[in-house]
Amino acid sequence: MYKRMKQIFERPALYLKSEAAFWNEEHISKQMLNAHLDPDFEGASRKADFIEKSARWIGELLPSNKYHKLLDLGCGPGLYTERFAKMGYQVTGIDFSERSIDYAKKAAKQRGLDISYHCQNYLNMDLDMIFDVSTMIYCDYGALSTEDRRSLRNYVYQHLNAGGRFLFDAFSMEFYHQFKEGTSWELCPEGGFWSGDEYMLFQGNYKYEGYVTLEQRILMTDDKITPYYLWNTCFTKESLIQEVEETGFKVIEVFGDVAGDEYHKDNTTMAILLEK
Ligand SMILES: C[S@@+](CC[C@H](N)C(=O)[O-])C[C@H]1O[C@@H](n2cnc3c(N)ncnc32)[C@H](O)[C@@H]1O
Repeated sequence: MYKRMKQIFERPALYLKSEAAFWNEEHISKQMLNAHLDPDFEGASRKADFIEKSARWIGELLPSNKYHKLLDLGCGPGLYTERFAKMGYQVTGIDFSERSIDYAKKAAKQRGLDISYHCQNYLNMDLDMIFDVSTMIYCDYGALSTEDRRSLRNYVYQHLNAGGRFLFDAFSMEFYHQFKEGTSWELCPEGGFWSGDEYMLFQGNYKYEGYVTLEQRILMTDDKITPYYLWNTCFTKESLIQEVEETGFKVIEVFGDVAGDEYHKDNTTMAILLEK
């Protein structure tokens, strides 16, 4: 028993992937969808007023008459894609959460928006189209391992026209410095975010070498123990530029966020605009 528990609770090796699918688990994905759709909650998506400002800024930075075909990676239930479609882009959205994509498809149909949605993993995406611009919003890039970031960049590069642009955001060193290590337990007799049944949750927040953080969550219900690992790699402006240049992208500009805030090293995020 001790050995098995030790194996479950110890700090995992860097970038170890959870076996359980966080974004697609029946109960969690329902909670995530509610979180995305709550305009005042900053969690799965940013708050609605930020998204509004951000989409408007992207529309000015990368106008739809010049960058017409847009690919949004990790589009969730379509908070950005719908805004982009209304701004005149020809929009494709990819997400591997079936629940989010189902919602996005129904919402687009109801609202009369012509958006092409694909329930796909962007780490092996296969789209029959080349784009003028791609976006990946809310710091999902840093959730990937070094290997996966490399293959994502290659996929995006292959799916862009020459001169096509890629905009994404990531957490900075300031985020890493503010991240607090520690462990705690939570008891939820009525169920909660992680399960509809009663559960106990172990929460371990750890820092790793290479400016990586881990939020380890171990869910204990009546019949099973399920570990989830939420990784995040933090960047300096220079380390981010170095890795995107490896893929052949040209760096156009670094911003403070995806709403056009000026870059500052004390910001917890940065956004980078690349060109193929
Ligand atoms: C933090 S949310 C951001 C959603 C959206 N970009 C926004 O800002 O509203 C990340 C999204 O990426 C999706 N996602 C994470 N990893 C993915 C992968 N490997 N392939 C496709 N989608 C992924 C999740 O399902 C989730 O909807």
